[in-house]
Amino acid sequence: MLFDERPKENREDLFDREKEIKEIMSNINRPLILITGVRRIGKTSVLKVALNELKIPYVIIDCRNLRPNYSRGDLYSLFSNALSSKLSTFLDVLSKIRGISILGNSVELKWKGREYVSLSDLFDHLNEKRIVIGIDEAQKLRGPLSNEIREAIAHAYDYDRNLTFILTGSEVGLLHDFLGVEDSRSPLYGRYYYEITLERFDKEKSQQFLRKGFEELSLKVEESVIQDIIAMVDGIPGWLTFAGNQYFNNKDLKKVKDIAINVALNEINSLISIKNNVSTIVAKRYRTVLRCIAKGMNSWSKIVNCLQDEEGSTISSSVLSNILNTLEKLSIIDENYEFLDPVYKEASKMLRN
Ligand SMILES: Nc1ncnc2c1ncn2[C@@H]1O[C@H](COP(=O)(O)OP(=O)(O)OP(=O)(O)O)[C@@H](O)[C@H]1O
Ligand SMILES: [Mg+2]
Repeated sequence: MLFDERPKENREDLFDREKEIKEIMSNINRPLILITGVRRIGKTSVLKVALNELKIPYVIIDCRNLRPNYSRGDLYSLFSNALSSKLSTFLDVLSKIRGISILGNSVELKWKGREYVSLSDLFDHLNEKRIVIGIDEAQKLRGPLSNEIREAIAHAYDYDRNLTFILTGSEVGLLHDFLGVEDSRSPLYGRYYYEITLERFDKEKSQQFLRKGFEELSLKVEESVIQDIIAMVDGIPGWLTFAGNQYFNNKDLKKVKDIAINVALNEINSLISIKNNVSTIVAKRYRTVLRCIAKGMNSWSKIVNCLQDEEGSTISSSVLSNILNTLEKLSIIDENYEFLDPVYKEASKMLRN
């Protein structure tokens, strides 16, 4: 079902993306692959479908819910959950590792004490088999343990020839920062990775996607509905799926739009508040800057003026530069101060301080 809101796992449920799946398959012997693109573009779906097609054993570590100051226990829980979900595939390898116990259907990893298992050890053991390690939303691994994780990936890159890492990230700038291949202090400095960037569907593909989705639900819709949805979401498959589903449920485009904007509004607020455990003043500034950009301020000087007008105060250029830089690294805006996602743009017009 095209309008199923979960990430797709099978080729027949995935619309288009043949080229990207092929690209993953033909580069699968590289040590490190990245799948990047804005939120809802289909990274997790493409990753899962490609891995299912490849028929190579894999695990996916899902970092989406990792808190900014995650602990070692949190990190090891992710590995433990991922390995537990694939226990039958890895049982033979895992049962030999000190610091790992298998209890029923779950894999327990010791992360401190004498028998603790380091990530490098774990990767070295997994290397007994040909394995792909997917790390979904890998930029969330930034933080206190990032160096240790990068060291482990760098070690595996050099020594564990049977392992391939595929990392996805919707906050593309942050993912690149995390890897730090251009940062001489990073353990991954100078390593090559193969990056696949998922682009949005063009108008024609978006149309086909929606028509096919509605057909599967046996719902006849007017061409104008299709066109209105496309105008609202600009070819981002996750929004097309969302809007298709919502329209099927309530047959009211205005309502569909309001719900989408509300979802985006919540996401923006949580992105800002995660960034700004700092202070409410800074969070407020982020909101004002986003509102200014959403109103069409698309140059440095226009944004400064708009922000100063709203705050009734002078603003230091380093503060603004910092905010814009962060918004870009979060893949909310691009380098031309344009929103990457039209729903985020509409939602930003409604941000309140
Ligand atoms: N090519 C596609 N064909 C069918 N459905 C798709 C396709 N791409 C994405 N979707 C749907 O869009 C939604 C978002 O997809 P997915 O979760 O894979 O994207 P993502 O880039 O990983 O998103 P996020 O940034 O939120 O992690 C899901 O409902 C998924 O089923
Ligand atoms: Mg995803």
